[in-house]
Amino acid sequence: MRLGLFFGSSTGATAWAAQLLRAELGEDLVTSFGDIRDLSAAELADFDVLVLGAPTWFVGELQEDWQARLIELERLDLSHTRVALFGLGDARGYPGTFLDGLGELRAALTARGARCDLGHWPAEGYEFDASRALLGSGNGKTFCGLALDVENEGWLTAPRARSWCRQLRRELGLGRRARRVRRLGLPASPVRLRR
Ligand SMILES: Cc1cc2nc3c(=O)[nH]c(=O)nc-3n(C[C@H](O)[C@H](O)[C@H](O)COP(=O)(O)O)c2cc1C
Repeated sequence: MRLGLFFGSSTGATAWAAQLLRAELGEDLVTSFGDIRDLSAAELADFDVLVLGAPTWFVGELQEDWQARLIELERLDLSHTRVALFGLGDARGYPGTFLDGLGELRAALTARGARCDLGHWPAEGYEFDASRALLGSGNGKTFCGLALDVENEGWLTAPRARSWCRQLRRELGLGRRARRVRRLGLPASPVRLRR
């Protein structure tokens, strides 16, 4: 499985979070890693799984390097790609547009056929007024990806990252049990003997 972890970052926070996530996921799993600034959007189509990170800027806008890739993105077919998203925002400073950029990135990816079905994250415990990164309408209680707020809840970043990566591994069928089973060369579930 080819898994690429890419991010946009204007002041370094998302780049730092991306490194944390790479360490948590394990370098064996993350086959490519980098800043979206150094990549053409077309290269995104080379992966089976994409883990993509974006902060929100200028009151509800997607970070500028991602913005610059949106037109290229429109030409891609991502129907064979599964996507997990993570976003950085400031819920206290921008409660009405918390993580909006992540919602915008998700919309652009799903319009290209990508399945953004990995790493959905409960919104419970976050304090904000509105977010376009919420799934479902109105009172949605799930973010479309991992929500990080280093400004106000920096101490939660590492535990959230750890727990999200564990969830991602599980969703990809790479949980601890699956890994052990593969190492032993066993089938993923018991083979029943007919007596
Ligand atoms: C001018 C400005 C506008 C921002 N607008 C938003 C916003 O609308 N929504 C939000 O959730 N965060 C907003 N933020 C917070 C950033 O997303 C946050 O600081 C993030 O960690 C920056 O990530 P980066 O360092 O990777 O660029 C804003 C920050 C600044 C300085």
